[in-house]
Amino acid sequence: MAEHPAYPVGLRLAGRRVVVLGGGQVAQRRLPALIAAGADILLVSPGATPSVEAMADAGEITWARRGYEDGDLADAWYALIATSDPEANTRASAEAERHRVWCVRSDDADRATAWTPATGHSEGVTVAVLTTDARGRDPRHTAAIRDAVVEGLRDGTLVAPHHRTRTPGVWLVGGGPGDPDLITVRGRRLLAEADVVIADRLGPRDLLAELPPHVEVIDAAKIPYGRYMAQEAINNALIEHAGQGKAVVRLKGGDPFVFGRGMEEVQALTEAGIPCTVVPGISSSISVPGAAGIPVTHRGVAHEFTVVSGHVAPDDERSLVDWPALAKLTGTLVVLMGVDKIGKIAETLVAHGRSPDTPVALIQEGTTAAQRRVDATLATVAETVRTEDVKPPAVIVIGEVVRVGPEPAA
Ligand SMILES: C[S@@+](CC[C@H](N)C(=O)[O-])C[C@H]1O[C@@H](n2cnc3c(N)ncnc32)[C@H](O)[C@@H]1O
Repeated sequence: MAEHPAYPVGLRLAGRRVVVLGGGQVAQRRLPALIAAGADILLVSPGATPSVEAMADAGEITWARRGYEDGDLADAWYALIATSDPEANTRASAEAERHRVWCVRSDDADRATAWTPATGHSEGVTVAVLTTDARGRDPRHTAAIRDAVVEGLRDGTLVAPHHRTRTPGVWLVGGGPGDPDLITVRGRRLLAEADVVIADRLGPRDLLAELPPHVEVIDAAKIPYGRYMAQEAINNALIEHAGQGKAVVRLKGGDPFVFGRGMEEVQALTEAGIPCTVVPGISSSISVPGAAGIPVTHRGVAHEFTVVSGHVAPDDERSLVDWPALAKLTGTLVVLMGVDKIGKIAETLVAHGRSPDTPVALIQEGTTAAQRRVDATLATVAETVRTEDVKPPAVIVIGEVVRVGPEPAA
């Protein structure tokens, strides 16, 4: 039997009797997939691990608290033999053979009539890896192949475009703060599957260089906009490419809906009848402080954090931010797009009650190789930004949380 390769097949076990002999670690590992497959599971075992016991308590399996008895496999479609008693395993195996029940044996793969592959899942696909014959069995190797394939599919390094189910449209992907490892798994896969990527300056630009050659990458800042506003030109480009039946990824820095104008793009696409899916991203407002050693909340220090845009000064009539109210809060203020206006912002906060000694940290190009943190106080921040030549993009954190971590490296 061992000279022939195993014949791979997917068993559809919903509602069908599966008998598991032995309630130890093997059963504990295998049962969740059998439960997920909807099998009608009978566990025969005098004892079980706490996890297996919990499955029985939850009604996910039926547990007969005894040893194996001849006849247990009579109604089974499939069996897993994994007791610690070799003699019972052999008897059960013989019964499985008599009843023509496919049977996995944890103690003797050579005598088993079925093998469990190393399995993993990614976006509606099950990857199952089997060794060709029993003598060559190397479970760590098959698991490593499974991991490589599943990881590759998830992060887009293994490109397997959908053909039948592929639909044109736009995926609005939050790319995270800049480190290419901080995009979501889904975002990375969609990038690799795209026909066209329209990308902002912020976000994981390093990833763009790694995309397969068929992916057309467009720099959003370079789209000629003529008589349109820049944002309208981007919306039009999205509509145009998706309208040609292409899969378009709109790659944005951080999260698309945090000062990202993401909803404007969703609205324009919806109006044009183009399907659009939003893939959230890690916002710089939390991740950049975190990468610089600053928690936006900390027990006993800050019970709230507020994320504000500082792109217009507090006294600008276009500002929608109630700075006097923010000055009265005791928690953390996270200011995005605020480098140019930080002097006015600090002045306003102090004028409305925040202590001039309140610590401030500015983190420039967070999570990238060029990350830099500069510390100041509300009283000194305007001057510090000038002398230290702090440049956008930077996240500014105002509040006592700036001081709770270890001393920042000089
Ligand atoms: C137009 S907003 C977009 C924010 C983005 N949607 C997000 O969720 O992070 C741009 C601002 O985000 C902040 N920012 C984004 N990425 C950053 C990074 N890697 N380092 C520092 N600041 C960053 C800066 O304040 C920058 O001016």
